[in-house]
Amino acid sequence: MKNNFDVVVLGAGAAGLFAAMRAGQRGRRVLLLDHAEEPGKKILISGGGRCNFTNRDCLPDRFLSQNRHFARSALARYTQHDFLELVQKHRIAWHEKTLGQLFCDGSARQIVAMLVAECEAASVDLRCHTRITGVTKDTHFRIATTAGAFTAESLVLATGSLSIPKMGATGFAHDLAMQFGLPLTEIRPALVPLTFGDTMLELMRPLSGLALESVAKAGKAAFREALLFTHRGLSGPAILQASSYWREGEMLTLDLVPDRDATAVLLAGKRARPKAEAKTILGDLLPARLAAAMAAQHLPPRTIGEIGDGDLRKLGAMLKAWALKPSGTEGYAKAEVTLGGVDTEALSSQTMVAKEVPGLFFIGEAVDVTGWLGGYNFQWAWSSGWAAGEAA
Ligand code: FDA
Repeated sequence: MKNNFDVVVLGAGAAGLFAAMRAGQRGRRVLLLDHAEEPGKKILISGGGRCNFTNRDCLPDRFLSQNRHFARSALARYTQHDFLELVQKHRIAWHEKTLGQLFCDGSARQIVAMLVAECEAASVDLRCHTRITGVTKDTHFRIATTAGAFTAESLVLATGSLSIPKMGATGFAHDLAMQFGLPLTEIRPALVPLTFGDTMLELMRPLSGLALESVAKAGKAAFREALLFTHRGLSGPAILQASSYWREGEMLTLDLVPDRDATAVLLAGKRARPKAEAKTILGDLLPARLAAAMAAQHLPPRTIGEIGDGDLRKLGAMLKAWALKPSGTEGYAKAEVTLGGVDTEALSSQTMVAKEVPGLFFIGEAVDVTGWLGGYNFQWAWSSGWAAGEAA
């Protein structure tokens, strides 16, 4: 009976490791399978190699979903404080960076090692290099793989979603959801850099690498963080956050000078230094390269004293609300997460089990729950993994 398990978890990423750990701790016989050569590959590259493993201010309204209340229950039952306690139990040094984001002092590898150690302690059978070739259900789930066939009472889908295909990301969980009749919501790349057409790129490309604090607004959401010019358009935390709320064809609005009255600064500069070049006065508001580019694009090539107040007012207003139309995103190749997934209407918010398919669970990024940048997505993986691990 060595191929029969109480629980089989597919996907040894953040959510799968956590669900397997919890189910194992409850005394369930757990098999955890992954097609990659090692577990937790996305954890290893996360947070610039230091893993932003949770957020101190992990509030449910910082998650996007068609049902914005869905994540509340799981997040309340396994919280950011619970995960921090686990990190501290394993003596992993950590620090808070900004906006409540908690990172390892050392390496993301410590988080993977912690999860693998917890799985080992809970007698989880972890097997990598294993491709799943098919799943069926009669009295039990039957899982066909390149390492043989397995049966299980409960099957937990934790294979993530489409972001970063070159790291092994697949739509496997979505395909399996459809096979078992569960609906999917619309999916698209999120926490992703935005691209721009040729005219705007003429301004942006030479500024590539330049960063400044700004407020990026898309839809009803606004994020005050760093914005970064790239050779394809815009990135940086403010843009990644806004990208989750942006839709094709819509505008993005940037305040490049938060807390400053740009018009007042330009008009005062004109009175005080009329012989100065406009880009010099703009340099009081913006980094020098951006000031020069904005002056060249939006003002006549004269000293500021020769430029009409109307033109300066127009530029001042634009710096506070620069309306831009992105042409698209850099897609799944660069997206930190996939927005959308298995429709939460089909799942129990308490346990993550499919309401119509007893024993079948979906967790982590595969589900239509997407967090903000800043440790929220890992917290969803831990919380949803815990919820499933308690019930599977
Ligand atoms: P995850 O993708 O982690 O795991 C899925 C697992 O399933 C993988 O191990 C994969 O190999 C396996 N798999 C897939 N298809 C399979 C198949 N067909 N058969 C078998 N196995 C299969 N979030 C955060 O909170 N803080 C951060 O610092 C970062 N940083 C970050 C950086 C980068 C570059 C990216 C791309 C993403 C982040 N994220 C993040 C997001 C975070 O990585 C993401 O939300 C979680 O990893 C999702 O966890 P899951 O376990 O759901 O999927």
